[in-house]
Amino acid sequence: MERLKGTNGKPVSAYADPNIDSLLKHSIRTQLESLLQSKVSVEQRIELLQKSFVDATSLILSDTKVTHHQLVKAFETMYDQAVQSMALAELSQDVLTRQYISPTGLIMSPYNCKHTIKDVYRIKGYARGIDKAIQSKIKHKAKINILYPACGPFAPLLLPLLSYYKDTKKYSAQQLQVMLVDIQPGAVMTLRQLVKDLQLDEYISLIEEVDATQYVPDVGIDLLVLEAMHHGFTKEGQLSIAKHLVQFLNIDGWMIPQNVSIKGVMVIGETEFNQQWKSADYSHSTKLSDVAQQDRIELGEIFSVNKSSLLRIQVLELEDGVSVIPVNQITFPTGVEDMHKRFLAIYAHIDTFAEEAVGQYDSGITHPKPDMSIYVDCKPREIEHTHFVASSGDTVQFYYQLSGLPGFVPVKV
Ligand SMILES: C[S@@+](CC[C@H](N)C(=O)[O-])C[C@H]1O[C@@H](n2cnc3c(N)ncnc32)[C@H](O)[C@@H]1O
Repeated sequence: MERLKGTNGKPVSAYADPNIDSLLKHSIRTQLESLLQSKVSVEQRIELLQKSFVDATSLILSDTKVTHHQLVKAFETMYDQAVQSMALAELSQDVLTRQYISPTGLIMSPYNCKHTIKDVYRIKGYARGIDKAIQSKIKHKAKINILYPACGPFAPLLLPLLSYYKDTKKYSAQQLQVMLVDIQPGAVMTLRQLVKDLQLDEYISLIEEVDATQYVPDVGIDLLVLEAMHHGFTKEGQLSIAKHLVQFLNIDGWMIPQNVSIKGVMVIGETEFNQQWKSADYSHSTKLSDVAQQDRIELGEIFSVNKSSLLRIQVLELEDGVSVIPVNQITFPTGVEDMHKRFLAIYAHIDTFAEEAVGQYDSGITHPKPDMSIYVDCKPREIEHTHFVASSGDTVQFYYQLSGLPGFVPVKV
């Protein structure tokens, strides 16, 4: 087997496995293509990059109507430019593609994370919320400190906004200081290149490669901006990161999102996931169909994550080092004839700040996630220990498991 070399020519620790070799070739090709496309001078590239970040932000902050097509186009352009900075950061294949499970959740590779900068309505909900939060804070404080842990290689909830602030002179670097934290060396290498290319160094007080669940900031935090979520509030370490960092918020500090509400719903899969979207050109909370919504059986809130609930959380330590948090109880209603045909789906509604939000279906992270291990009024043919069988009328206590694979565990009361 041939020893792999990084794009900087230095050997890296992984060996080419025939199974992942094609993936690696693909990612090398993506990098090379993006560099080849840029038959422009360094100055022109920097100008295009900065413009793409400012343009995308101007569109999402605008209160006049912007079409979905315009938004997607602006975000694609921003992505194309950002990927060039990633290519210039010269990540080795190992650094680019390394993905693993940490004790508190999935650590996505920089290669997979690069797409989050195209998640238009997630960034819109966050950026508009952050903009309003900054506006409120700056009235009372000359300078505010913002911490953005698990920010990924492009820190897309803040770098576009900072580019806009610099361009429009809305807020200066004397007013805003941002700390960017990520555990992936490749995310940090890319961030350094991108911040330099965007000429935003003056706004960035720190870029650090560290586990956010261990990080101790050396200043009080005014705004904690966090998005490390998967749909159904599973897989990634949002809760562990938030629970650790909330203690470093100033007394009047805010978390963005201000609230994440996780809800349960019993759905007929065909209606919810197929019929509902047949005539929609893209999925979004404004495009939900009335028929599908009326067909749902809402079970209520399973968990609400905000500054005060995080400060109150009681963790139960079980045997084998497993930790869980008891959250809400729900009762499966009686009298639903087709309950046995339904399955439980868990979805998030994210209130970022003020009235700004990321609603269900606005982003992959708020998309309802079916839990196929829970059976209500029916039994799987062969019951496995991972299955949970309940009946209409049963009350169920949910626990949130804090582990490498975070998620909800139901227990009959
Ligand atoms: C989906 S990506 C980027 C998400 C980013 N917040 C955004 O808005 O696009 C997730 C990133 O979180 C980072 N991450 C996950 N858990 C982390 C932890 N415990 N400490 C630091 N970074 C973490 C990963 O390394 C990865 O770069």
